[in-house]
Amino acid sequence: MSDLTDIQNKIDELRKQLNYHNYRYHVLDSPEISDAEYDGLMQQLRKLEEQYPQLLMPDSPSQRVGAAPVEALGVLEHPVPMLSLGNAFVTEDLYAWHTRTLKLLGVEQFDMVCEHKMDGLSIALTYENGIFVRGSTRGDGFRGEDITQNLKTIHSIPLSVPKSAPPRFEVRGEVYLPKVGFQKLNKERENEGLPLFANPRNAAAGSIRQLDPRITAKRNLDIYVYWLLYAYGKMMPETHWETLEYFKELGFRVNPANRRVKRIEEAEEYYKTWTEKRETLPYEADGIVIKADSMEYHTRLGDVGREPRWAIAYKFPAIQGTTKLKEIGISVGRTGTLNPFAILEPVQIGGVTIERATLHNEDDTRRKDIREGDWVYIQRAGDVIPDVVGPILSKRTGEEKVFSLLDKIYSQEKGRPACPVCGGEVVKPEGEVMYYCSNAACPAQVQGRIELFVSRSAMDIRGVGEKFIEVLLKEELVKDAADLYSLKEKKEQIVQLEKKGEKSAGNIIKAIEKSKQASLPRLLFGLGIRHVGEETANLLAEHYKDLDDLSRAEREKLMTVASIGPKIADSIVAFFHEERNRVILEKLRRAGVWPQQELAQQGLPLSGQEFVITGTLETFSREEAHSRIKALGGIAKDNVTKNTTYLVVGADPGENKLIRARALGTAQINEEKLLAILGQKN
Ligand code: IVH
Repeated sequence: MSDLTDIQNKIDELRKQLNYHNYRYHVLDSPEISDAEYDGLMQQLRKLEEQYPQLLMPDSPSQRVGAAPVEALGVLEHPVPMLSLGNAFVTEDLYAWHTRTLKLLGVEQFDMVCEHKMDGLSIALTYENGIFVRGSTRGDGFRGEDITQNLKTIHSIPLSVPKSAPPRFEVRGEVYLPKVGFQKLNKERENEGLPLFANPRNAAAGSIRQLDPRITAKRNLDIYVYWLLYAYGKMMPETHWETLEYFKELGFRVNPANRRVKRIEEAEEYYKTWTEKRETLPYEADGIVIKADSMEYHTRLGDVGREPRWAIAYKFPAIQGTTKLKEIGISVGRTGTLNPFAILEPVQIGGVTIERATLHNEDDTRRKDIREGDWVYIQRAGDVIPDVVGPILSKRTGEEKVFSLLDKIYSQEKGRPACPVCGGEVVKPEGEVMYYCSNAACPAQVQGRIELFVSRSAMDIRGVGEKFIEVLLKEELVKDAADLYSLKEKKEQIVQLEKKGEKSAGNIIKAIEKSKQASLPRLLFGLGIRHVGEETANLLAEHYKDLDDLSRAEREKLMTVASIGPKIADSIVAFFHEERNRVILEKLRRAGVWPQQELAQQGLPLSGQEFVITGTLETFSREEAHSRIKALGGIAKDNVTKNTTYLVVGADPGENKLIRARALGTAQINEEKLLAILGQKN
């Protein structure tokens, strides 16, 4: 018997350790042991539980792997219906809610809690005697599906809570799939030829309502809890804010972005901040929720219909919508790429009318099975061109047309596929997904090259936009980007153009002249050498002092620059060999557009190492840290990529950087370690 007690003790100890480390990793985002050590402990526990099945408990951490599949999900009744929230779409709605609430309460002010409105699935979690016993979806608000086994696979849901917790309580929260997990899942599905999920919310829904919990276990779902429905047998805090704090004590994951405010203007400020920053969040949020803080006020305010009066959701402008794809068009890019794009039935998404969206390339369009005539999901993000996410299969009528790029551009007259702009020959280089117009003089390509040259990240010539370039080309005032510098001799003609006016023509010429000061990386980027983006241009300028220097560089020499491979090197060499480009370069030289760069020193201690800093450092500002890193030959970046050597974690770090670093396996160091690397501390 004492044997079994020993075993029980051993098992208890293992469970305690596993729960603790699970909590550090999944709730606090701050692991203390390696994954391998964790797996080791888990194996020990599993082995003991297999040997002594009588000691297996439903809240054992071993139960997170996923139980056996079921035939169908059971149904659970909600003891109190799961409500929805009233919506505000504009500021006035928010103020109206606030004024109404003040009046109902007969007060002049009340505290509020602002939270993100997570775009996932609302779920209910019931704990009895410290153990997670039931979990369900919202369902119709009255009855939901029993997803207990699936929820157990989510590591940030505690399977048990401290003994001090109320003997019976129910919390509600949102299960969601982080953006990285969503991308990974869709990539896998793409490889397996499965239909893609349109957004993380659909993916989360598909993952949590699985009959086989082992599938849920693989999906990296997460949770934030935001509501205590009831708690029996113990006094609960008098405010929502304190309840959220209490959740943390019980081991739940609570969104660190939550804020308590006093004035409605502060709530509006919170909304504005997150409307701007929403894309940097590691999860999708579709608005904010504002809740009265006092629990007594909740009782006093009550509900109307199925919406509580004590809270309101203030929605962000939408980023996804649906519409009909009327036709697929083809545009010609600066490098001659033939770019398919969607011509849409105009649709309002987040206050912007969308009529066009990109389709990337033929392969991608086929893979997503997007057809002409389909109803599609459209997604916009900031100012970039909207994207067609995928078709809505349930709306297919059978009339839709499968897309073939070569059929689209077939010219009867020429008896072959032809560039839709210049009629030039179309080629598809081996191993590439894009088709190209092979005529370098194609007006669309020339236009694109000049647009790149004048763009913000390149020579930044204000006042010279798409339309103006079109006119300049049409009037044959320029043939290429370098000709812009001779426009000052043609001021009169510019004044005539589109009735520009003396002043406006003068400003344009001034802007062009000013661009002569632009740095080498800007010019390099603006030249549009294939595969040379901003980052590569920066790198090249660290090693070559001007365009002469670079034009003489041989392939092998170029490849000694970190992250420049054969593809980029070949493209650079080819660029400087081409007659058309030599002509442009000569014109630039004569115009005095020939920036010189001071070279960074080679062989410095941090050469080739890339640092990203997140959060606040104590010793110096981020800018100072960046310049110290650079002074030692290192690279300082703002975003974690596969090239990042170290993520330096300061106080209050950005969650998405941490998640990305974790996903990519990037080494994380603290400020002390950074100081040691910079030689400021031993
Ligand atoms: S409070 C009585 N807080 O929004 C309602 N809901 O439109 C209690 N949601 O069904 C909900 N984030 O699924 C609350 N921070 C948050 C939320 C949130 C997302 C969802 C929830 C709810 C829906 C209502």
